[in-house]
Amino acid sequence: MMSVVFISLFNVPVFAATGETATTQQQQKIVNVAHRGASGHAPENTMAAFEKAFQMKSDYIEIDVQMTRDGEVVAIHDTTVDRTTNGTGFVGDFTLEEIQQLDAGSWFDEEFAGEKIPTFEEIVDAFRGKIGILIELKSPELYPGIEEKVANILMERNMHLPNNNKVIIQSFNHESVQRSKELLPNIPHGVLAGMSWADVTDEQLLEFATYADYFNPNRNMVDEELVDRVHRSGMEVYAYTVRAQEHADQLFEAGVDGIITDFPEYVYDFSGLNE
Ligand code: G3P
Ligand code: CA
Repeated sequence: MMSVVFISLFNVPVFAATGETATTQQQQKIVNVAHRGASGHAPENTMAAFEKAFQMKSDYIEIDVQMTRDGEVVAIHDTTVDRTTNGTGFVGDFTLEEIQQLDAGSWFDEEFAGEKIPTFEEIVDAFRGKIGILIELKSPELYPGIEEKVANILMERNMHLPNNNKVIIQSFNHESVQRSKELLPNIPHGVLAGMSWADVTDEQLLEFATYADYFNPNRNMVDEELVDRVHRSGMEVYAYTVRAQEHADQLFEAGVDGIITDFPEYVYDFSGLNE
């Protein structure tokens, strides 16, 4: 179920959490994407964080996927395990069996001791049909063939077919996005844009739009003008990463289509659902 928030045509208060009032002349829906799961509440890229996002009724979980030495696709953000587990070393130097022996929860809170680095297949099997999945191909240049691995896992489950609109694939590596789009033409794809793209031109946006459906920027570059230009190019905008209510409010005002956040509750506050 899509948790779409409809803001109506007249003077409707939308900034419930801040006490501010705003109006909009158009209906606007905001897609709520839980960044690495509800990672403000549970250790990122673990089943606990994804389950929390589901409980909080996010529309999507965002996951970062990389590959082990033996070719298994797993969810972890950094290219080393150092920050988010009790181990050390590069993701690509571990076998699946080795990496799954690490504790991916204690660093966040003892309550999550024993959480493991999940495989992409585990995540898909646990959550497809329950919540959307925004898949980020993380540093794919380190993992030749990861686009094919991800595509095969989705195709084995018929998730590559038209109208399966609850899966999106994105990357900062735009060549990887293009490769993936060729393998999975019916799945929407997004280009991630860090601050080096702050001055993106209309021509560059139109080029992205030849293979991407989303231009997903760092929130610091987002204003109404950028959102309008992306929309005119035919793409949607999911901005990252929100960790404060005021930043969610600013993105809402700029007219983004989706907000990628560690705290899903900041996005629902537009509707007053948390009151
Ligand atoms: O989904 C966008 C966002 O996740 C990109 O940044 O570093 O959190 O993967 P990062
Ligand atoms: Ca990510």
